[in-house]
Amino acid sequence: MTGKENQVVVVTGASGGIGRAVARAFGARHARVALLARGEQGLGAAADDITRAGGTALEIPTDVADFTQVDAAAERVEKEFGPIDVWVNVAFTSVFAPFSEIEPAEFRRVTEVSYLGYVHGTKAALNRMKPRDRGTIVQVGSALAYRGIPLQSAYCGAKHAIQGFNEALRCELLHDGSRVRTTMVQMPAVNTPQFSWVLSKLPDHAQPVPPIYQPEVAARAVVHAADHPRRREYWVGGSTVGTLAANAVAPGILDRYLARTGYRSQQTGAAKPAGQPANLWQPADRARDFGAHGEFDDKATPRSLQLWASRHHGLLAAAGGALAATALAAWRRAQP
Ligand SMILES: NC(=O)c1ccc[n+]([C@@H]2O[C@H](COP(=O)([O-])OP(=O)(O)OC[C@H]3O[C@@H](n4cnc5c(N)ncnc54)[C@H](OP(=O)(O)O)[C@@H]3O)[C@@H](O)[C@H]2O)c1
Repeated sequence: MTGKENQVVVVTGASGGIGRAVARAFGARHARVALLARGEQGLGAAADDITRAGGTALEIPTDVADFTQVDAAAERVEKEFGPIDVWVNVAFTSVFAPFSEIEPAEFRRVTEVSYLGYVHGTKAALNRMKPRDRGTIVQVGSALAYRGIPLQSAYCGAKHAIQGFNEALRCELLHDGSRVRTTMVQMPAVNTPQFSWVLSKLPDHAQPVPPIYQPEVAARAVVHAADHPRRREYWVGGSTVGTLAANAVAPGILDRYLARTGYRSQQTGAAKPAGQPANLWQPADRARDFGAHGEFDDKATPRSLQLWASRHHGLLAAAGGALAATALAAWRRAQP
């Protein structure tokens, strides 16, 4: 027992990828999990995952770009499950292409789903949490919330925007003395279906830039963040820490490095499959359920030592302090 049984949790983008793994992780704690996304195959399969894991699922087909749909979904969750405890924003889409090849309508759509979708989810959650003065919002972010990379201009813009939006909101909640919390979890490359269903104009099959983590690593980080939302931000994976630290001290060097390597590292080298679906305007799961994992199981790791350290930094600091005190005592004893 975790003491979190029956929590009411909303996950956007729950039909596939990280959102699917997050929903399942909350389900395994016997939460009541509302699943928001568009694809009905994916939503149905996600609901089955949760039921099998011991939770209770509520599928609500929703396009997060439309605030009316998101707000109606929140209303329905509260009617069927009760007050929302945790809202996790995950839903996103992108276009893999150089900026010059992205049409204005495509850029706008990515922004409406990937940035405004988070704003809509946050608004729907806050409207209900603020009057009760409790609740947690988790924004699933990315190392690309701080560092832009080539071929993902619309996505990087959205992720940076979420970071700024969330920071501003956090200040407002602190100003108000609110007990509603918001935190952001910056993810590394994760093996999800996005590389098979995001609209791609690249010649080769898209891939996450290694090192690649399994979606369950991301899900563990999100569940931990939901349980410990006072921390403003979580960084997941050594690659996220390395990217964010390097970008803080030498962004110009990273510009040049990514200009040289970023096109190649985001493609497998094998041609993009003919007839690959694209989920920009409609869901791509009509033919099949894509699940949580993408095509890179053989290259992805199910663990992150860095995430463990980040989740236990109090313990590590205490152990470090104890070690230092022991060393100091030994050194003092050795003095003549
Ligand atoms: N995978 C990575 O390498 C990686 C790295 C860093 C950060 N992240 C972050 O993790 C999150 C999830 O990424 P992912 O790789 O798991 O993505 P994914 O596999 O492509 O899954 C995206 C999810 O969003 C939903 N979605 C797309 N458009 C939607 C819309 N208009 N309305 C509602 N739902 C919509 C999709 O379902 P439907 O199509 O059924 O609606 C799906 O459930 C994103 O916020 C991303 O920024 C991922």
